[in-house]
Amino acid sequence: MAEAMDAARAGAVLAIDLDAVRANYRRLAETAGKAVCAAVMKADAYGLGMDRVAPALALEGCRVFFTAHLEEGIRLRQLVPADCTIYVLHGLPPAGTLHTALEFVEHGLVPVLNDPAQVELWRRACRQLQQRLPAALQFDTGMSRMGMAPADVARLLADPAWKDDLKPVLVMSHLACADEPLHELNGLQRLRFDALRAQFPGIPGSLANSSAVFLGSAFHHDLVRPGAALYGINPQPGHPNPLRQAVSLRARIVQARTVQAGDVVGYGARYLAAGPRRIATIALGYADGWLRSLSGCGHAYVDGVAVPIAGTVSMDSITLDVTGVPEERVLPGREVELLGEHQTVDDVAREAGTIGYEVLTRLGSRFHRQYL
Ligand SMILES: Cc1ncc(COP(=O)(O)O)c(C=O)c1O
Repeated sequence: MAEAMDAARAGAVLAIDLDAVRANYRRLAETAGKAVCAAVMKADAYGLGMDRVAPALALEGCRVFFTAHLEEGIRLRQLVPADCTIYVLHGLPPAGTLHTALEFVEHGLVPVLNDPAQVELWRRACRQLQQRLPAALQFDTGMSRMGMAPADVARLLADPAWKDDLKPVLVMSHLACADEPLHELNGLQRLRFDALRAQFPGIPGSLANSSAVFLGSAFHHDLVRPGAALYGINPQPGHPNPLRQAVSLRARIVQARTVQAGDVVGYGARYLAAGPRRIATIALGYADGWLRSLSGCGHAYVDGVAVPIAGTVSMDSITLDVTGVPEERVLPGREVELLGEHQTVDDVAREAGTIGYEVLTRLGSRFHRQYL
């Protein structure tokens, strides 16, 4: 539906700059030095559209991809060359059966095994097919989210038969605070990871997400797994962003009016005009991912001039106080910038009290999408 939405009919146009994504990949790969640079594709390539992003990255030389879910992996398999490795981060679904495990094999996907039950199910699949099937092993090194605890690892290694069944091709873990370079957990998780890894000699290791690519070579190991930075999110908050913005969003003005002192605007009458104000309504709202928490504090831009959101963000529309710009620039049919030259994904996230990841992944399906 998103692709089919005609530009003239859509309330907003989302432009995705595939050149920028490719340039960001090159930048990350270069920073990662000798480590292989993979690409994280989960949540439809963080909202940018896996169908277009994955082939573009494959053209750039990316040969290793990560999705979160099995379904995403199955979709991705159709989009990238056969020699690409696709890891599924959630591994085998919790209620998974042998049949589910065999689906991984059918689609050439490599599960990330996060707990002893997943390991056991994968071993069963290996025995059933009489093949040592590839799998990644994830360790929990301090985030307490996914991955085997050190005791699980010890139990696994205590069984001499484990490697007769499955073929470990990657050991990995994930950092909780990589975007805070000085956080003590970074070094601690790395030490724990290196200690666990030492028990799996010869098997490539991976710890780094986007931010950790910029933490130095000690965090790169054999493979880095950036997602956010590919899509222009700043991996080093508080420092200049070394990556290019990959999305821009422009919404159309559907109505413009003058309100007088004492008039209110929007749901809950949260905006009270102190004097005559020009209000422009744009055709995009929280159903399109423009977070309601931006009510009364977010901005759009008209020809480079910031115009504040007046009152509450509605489901399909937002009211802007455009008093500060010439009237002819804010007539119905004209466009305002929500993401682009003057406002990055990280800027919007800051105003909304969230992170760029949430802004991107929430971008809705009603926009006209243009791939540049
Ligand atoms: C296990 C794992 N690796 C890599 C990534 C990519 O992280 P980022 O988008 O911060 O680069 C994620 C995303 O959250 C993840 O869960």
